[in-house]
Amino acid sequence: MATKLRAAIIGAGGISGNHIRGYLTTERFDIVALADLSPESMAEKNEMFGISPTHYTDARRMMEEERPDVVSICTWHRGHAPWTIAAAAYKPQAILCEKPMADSVGAAERMLIACRRNDVKLAIGHQRRFLPSYTLAQELIARKAIGDVHLIQSCGGAGLPNYSSHQTDMYRYLLDDDECVWVMGNIERKTDQHERGTRIEDRAMAVFQFAGGPRALILSDLVPNYYQGALIYGSEGLLNMTTDELQLLNADSGGKWERHVPAGRFYTVDELGSRFEWEEGSAAQADELADWVEGKVETHRGRGENGYKALQMIHAVYESARLHEQVQMPLQTRVNPLDLMVESGHLTPQRPGRYDIRAALLRNENMNEDTEN
Ligand SMILES: NC(=O)c1ccc[n+]([C@@H]2O[C@H](COP(=O)([O-])OP(=O)(O)OC[C@H]3O[C@@H](n4cnc5c(N)ncnc54)[C@H](O)[C@@H]3O)[C@@H](O)[C@H]2O)c1
Repeated sequence: MATKLRAAIIGAGGISGNHIRGYLTTERFDIVALADLSPESMAEKNEMFGISPTHYTDARRMMEEERPDVVSICTWHRGHAPWTIAAAAYKPQAILCEKPMADSVGAAERMLIACRRNDVKLAIGHQRRFLPSYTLAQELIARKAIGDVHLIQSCGGAGLPNYSSHQTDMYRYLLDDDECVWVMGNIERKTDQHERGTRIEDRAMAVFQFAGGPRALILSDLVPNYYQGALIYGSEGLLNMTTDELQLLNADSGGKWERHVPAGRFYTVDELGSRFEWEEGSAAQADELADWVEGKVETHRGRGENGYKALQMIHAVYESARLHEQVQMPLQTRVNPLDLMVESGHLTPQRPGRYDIRAALLRNENMNEDTEN
């Protein structure tokens, strides 16, 4: 039996459970330590998974004492860059940081630099790259099963950075990591809405053009029934993809929708139902991380550069709204353009009063923030 990788987690809240479950499912990791400001959060994880890692309320102390092989960063978005940069200084072999990669493109760039400087492999938790329906869609597109892709249509909500950084990452995954060349979009922000401590817009829409010809369209907080997945229009067919299944319509399907529910590496949709995307995604993401650390694969499909590009596409929508222009990529503005618009008085909320749509995740008397770095 090969030696297991020693994993430690910074931020033991909701999504950390997916990281822990993913690591344990692969049987290639031991969870050696958790760090959280809340002892109750850590105790809950012990109970949920029957594990007994060492608990720390100071993540730097955890890094110093445990020297883990792999570190998960599972704090809110604003903590992703400072904690990735801090963890990288202790030179683990890999860091798996949650999405959105950071709260600004500049901060995400600093994460890439810190990991390069310390020779640390960095992956971002866009775990849907590991769903078999997404991978099948990618393969069908590459095989020209629907001809040339003209449009990927998708819907999101709860702010662009949180939900739709998964969608911008999905566009690139479906298109074999083609590069986005320009973005044009607009936002509305009448209220002082935040999501996990980060400013978000009230609604948005945008078009993303890719180098190879396809374009993608997102409607965010504009329609009620949004979902992770896409309707993909090609010159010779259509694909309708969700996190569980894929439907194909082309000449070979005889003009009818052909349904595919591909099995994952660890689970099937039949076994897990709505839990499938979470459990399969996190386990397969962890498994490829172990392969990357152990040199069995050249790279990880969620590598930092991909998370960085997904974030750039989101912030390019804000920049397009700020500058009233078609934004050429790569995005050159490194601060968060939405923060800039609000703080410069360009987009003052007309119905003032800060609120956070994820405030219910906080504990005790805390209402706005969860992170002290
Ligand atoms: N990949 C996905 O599909 C997915 C799904 C849900 C959440 N997320 C991402 O995961 C991140 C966390 O979200 P969540 O829902 O788990 O939030 P959460 O509030 O449930 O958990 C965050 C935890 O971080 C802890 N924390 C804060 N500051 C800390 C510090 N200085 N040191 C150690 N711990 C600290 C908090 O006490 C809390 O327990 C977000 O960025 C979110 O976007 C990703």
